[in-house]
Amino acid sequence: MRKLLLIILPIAAAIYFAAGCKPDEVPQPTDELIAGEYTPQPVSLNIPSWMPQPVIPEDNPLTEAGIELGRRLFYDPILSSDSTQSCASCHRQELAFTDGLAVSTGVLGISGRRSAMALDNLAFHVREFFWDGRANSLEEQALIPVEDHTEMNESWPNVLDKLRRHPHYPRRFRQAFGIERKSQITKELAAKAIAQFERTLISVNSRYDDVIWRNQGWYTDEEERGRQLFFFEEAQQLNHPGCSHCHFAPTFGNNSFNTYTNNGLDNVPNIDAFPDKGRGEVTGNRFDNGKFRVVSLRNIELTAPYMHDGRFQTLEEVLDHYTRGGHGVENEDVNILPFSLSARDKQDLIAFLKTLTDTTFINNPAHSDPFR
Ligand code: HEC
Ligand code: HEC
Repeated sequence: MRKLLLIILPIAAAIYFAAGCKPDEVPQPTDELIAGEYTPQPVSLNIPSWMPQPVIPEDNPLTEAGIELGRRLFYDPILSSDSTQSCASCHRQELAFTDGLAVSTGVLGISGRRSAMALDNLAFHVREFFWDGRANSLEEQALIPVEDHTEMNESWPNVLDKLRRHPHYPRRFRQAFGIERKSQITKELAAKAIAQFERTLISVNSRYDDVIWRNQGWYTDEEERGRQLFFFEEAQQLNHPGCSHCHFAPTFGNNSFNTYTNNGLDNVPNIDAFPDKGRGEVTGNRFDNGKFRVVSLRNIELTAPYMHDGRFQTLEEVLDHYTRGGHGVENEDVNILPFSLSARDKQDLIAFLKTLTDTTFINNPAHSDPFR
């Protein structure tokens, strides 16, 4: 017997080291039972009365353990092929979860074609995510970046293998979803946890919320004039920017509706010639070409550069674009009309937009990197 062991052990060790494992990195089996309790603590979002009601899917209620697991997955580069990139690499809290770039770059150094979107108040947005609305839910969206070669360039089977062998994740999945074995960790559960975390990213503490809704403090004259320039409801004359035709309070996007418009960015000869077809790519309808989702302007001061391809560096450039009133392309929205803005109007409008900045949101420790 001893002789047999003497032969087998060196062979086993040779195979083991040939496979590239160091003795202190013994991989954990992937189908073990997971120890620990499953006692989910429900969480309800604290939403002020002036905001819409959040929509939480019945099959993914918020729990403390689910949100915490989602937060870890969001900040963990384990989701990318070379462990260099997490969701947070392109969605940074201090920039209202954008990346400050015109278009984002993934692990392979390849640039994507679109600008990273701000992640705030996603709980009010029921369906149709991305600039073109192609993902139906946050749960569906969260699956996409991992396998996108311009983003994390990893495969879900690999990620699941890493998670199942991880010293802590199996316990966290059990606490969040009550699974019993490591093999029950799925990409769908990972996506559910990430979606739970994302639904907690609520921004309702800007100066706009304080002044207009909480009756705390006042706007400066500049900000108040800017507010009147933003809301067409306040218009005294036809020559008005009319931003609120599309960006409605209180979300400053489309609230829960999904509206896609051509806001006059591209000067193309016809509707088949848009460099990025946007919504048209999803619906296959030519008249949707060049249309994009009306996105939220909350925290807009922090999320430059602007538009789906990050073409504008500053809010001044954005206003210069809107004053021109588009290029007369067939499917431009009827509310894209030329108007004039004095230098002072411009300053006032920007001063108003800056009151949508929520510093509590970008400093909230509950939204921050748990590994720091
Ligand atoms: C390489 C940069 C990059 C990485 C990594 C990345 N994203 Fe994004 N994210 C983007 C870009 C770019 C868009 C817009 C893409 C589009 O519209 O086609 C986006 C859009 C989104 C949206 C849509 C928001 C909305 O309002 O519709 C969500 C949600 C989101 N990302 C979450 C995540 C999550 C979760 C992860 C990690 C699993 C992640 N992102 C990883 C760049 C990135
Ligand atoms: C006809 C509807 C419409 C009107 C009117 C409108 N917008 Fe927009 N806005 C959009 C759409 C759609 C987008 C996204 C377009 C894209 O990226 O292709 C957008 C994007 C933006 C962005 C960039 C957001 C980001 O995250 O990059 C800013 C800033 C903005 N609008 C400000 C304004 C202001 C200020 C006004 C008034 C002067 C205004 N908008 C009027 C539809 C509109």
